[in-house]
Amino acid sequence: MAVPFSIGKIFDSATQVDGTVFGMQLKHFCVAFLAVLAGGACASCGQMALLKIIGERIITKLRSSLYKHTYVQNAEFFDTHRVGDLISRLGNDTTMVGRSITENLSDGLRSLAFATTGMGMMTYISYKLVGVLALAFPPLAAGAFLYGRAVRDLSRRIQSNQGTLTRIAEERLGNVRTSQAFAGERQEVHRYNDQTRKIFNLAKREAVISATFFSTSSFLGNATFLALLYVGDSMVRSGSITVGDLTTFVMYTGVAGGSLFGLSAAYSDLMKGVGAASRLFELQDHRPIISPTKGMAVKSARGMIEFHDVHFAYPTRPSILVFDGLSLRIAPGRNVAIVAPSGAGKSTVASLLMRFYAPTRGTITINGHDISKMNARQLRRRIGLVGQEPVLFSESIAENVAYGKPEATKSEILEALRLANCHFVHDFPNGIDTLVGARGAQLSGGQKQRIAIARALLKDPDILILDEATSALDVESETLVNRALEPLRQGPRTIITITHRLSTISRSDTIICLGADGKVAQMGTYHHLIADKDGVFAKLVKQQISGR
Ligand SMILES: Nc1ncnc2c1ncn2[C@@H]1O[C@H](COP(=O)(O)OP(=O)(O)OP(=O)(O)O)[C@@H](O)[C@H]1O
Ligand SMILES: [Mg+2]
Repeated sequence: MAVPFSIGKIFDSATQVDGTVFGMQLKHFCVAFLAVLAGGACASCGQMALLKIIGERIITKLRSSLYKHTYVQNAEFFDTHRVGDLISRLGNDTTMVGRSITENLSDGLRSLAFATTGMGMMTYISYKLVGVLALAFPPLAAGAFLYGRAVRDLSRRIQSNQGTLTRIAEERLGNVRTSQAFAGERQEVHRYNDQTRKIFNLAKREAVISATFFSTSSFLGNATFLALLYVGDSMVRSGSITVGDLTTFVMYTGVAGGSLFGLSAAYSDLMKGVGAASRLFELQDHRPIISPTKGMAVKSARGMIEFHDVHFAYPTRPSILVFDGLSLRIAPGRNVAIVAPSGAGKSTVASLLMRFYAPTRGTITINGHDISKMNARQLRRRIGLVGQEPVLFSESIAENVAYGKPEATKSEILEALRLANCHFVHDFPNGIDTLVGARGAQLSGGQKQRIAIARALLKDPDILILDEATSALDVESETLVNRALEPLRQGPRTIITITHRLSTISRSDTIICLGADGKVAQMGTYHHLIADKDGVFAKLVKQQISGR
């Protein structure tokens, strides 16, 4: 900020006899001033590096805290939020906010300081000339305010559409084979293009708005400049200011004007950051209903499992009751099969027991303790779940099997693989270190299921839930898995099998047959249930045997 002032003084010294600047010889002044400039450059280097580092740090912190926060959300949250959108928030929005807080804020503050000092110096030189400038200020300020608001809203919309774009790419590319199988490539490309076009249109609008704002304010600035020179000229002629002062003033006007311009640019970027931040706060403020860490410690999940008059509807579909007063008891150490028509709520029983969702009414107890009072994470450690559509992570087979118990030894992993009849692993060149590909794509459906069974067995759970866990296996492999699981069936473990296969059902001690009305229709041993010819179970079995 000292440059214009000094240049003015140098100009004036050239027209004076003694030729000194601030009482110094010009030569000495130049050396001293060079030192000041060098000092300034060092300070600015430090500031830039520091700001960049702080910005990156903020982004890193924001990302890790948001990721952690997202990871503990309940199933309900993931039913409504799309993963692609969350990825976009973690990636783009955090970057925008980080940059905003550091670079834009510091640019803004620097511009503000420059503009204020410039104004101060200008007032010091000639308040009459400042008066000329003041005329342009109100329209500029009003313009900047309106522009900032428009940019903030646009940015929010752009970011949310960007989220949708990532979501589309993530979901569709992740399932590209299904899409190709239905020759859906064109449709998918169109879907993606439509979304990019939406973003383009919003960006276009932003471009037009900012071009209008910046060119109008630049025009206003230049016009003021012209008016300034016009008035200044007559002031120099009348001798009320020197040429040096006018030069200084004009240069300060340039600096102050440029800073004001910079201020509005920083403001608009800051507003974009605010738009992105509001999306992050939305995520940060979302508290999971079921806290994974609060509640009673769970040492063991052995004991009687009881559903007492459980009512449940999925939060995304509150009007459809899946369970309407479901009551059942599963004695400890038993092998229980749950059978029901498709969509009756078999998998939902597993989800409720795992506390992915909470019943809307009624309670579920294990050994007399309400599971809603238990620490969800510890409870889940005691339950082994093999889901209906098992998902493996893109790691090695060994890492997948040890997922629930990372400290497992190699022999434990091999034993779990043996129990789950995963002999195929040894045919792979890399054995248990074979990578399985994204979501286990490099394995067959049946192989995936068996690895998922091994993963659940390695946890040595108190309750084992097999949700159609052998549905992709042929009869022989299924028999082998069942035979391998036989010793476990004798143990203290409770095994809940959800299945359509008669062979597995008949092997169970107790069969729970759910009706379409969200209640237990029948419960008892295989022979007991099959004897009731008009019962739901007998009908299900008959349909399966006759194929009608
Ligand atoms: N995440 C969800 N959000 C909303 N509704 C759901 C959700 N998951 C399942 N449903 C609905 O809840 C009902 C019970 O589903 P569930 O998956 O428990 O059935 P199921 O008995 O396991 O069927 P299947 O034999 O086909 O696996 C179904 O009508 C289903 O449409
Ligand atoms: Mg199911």
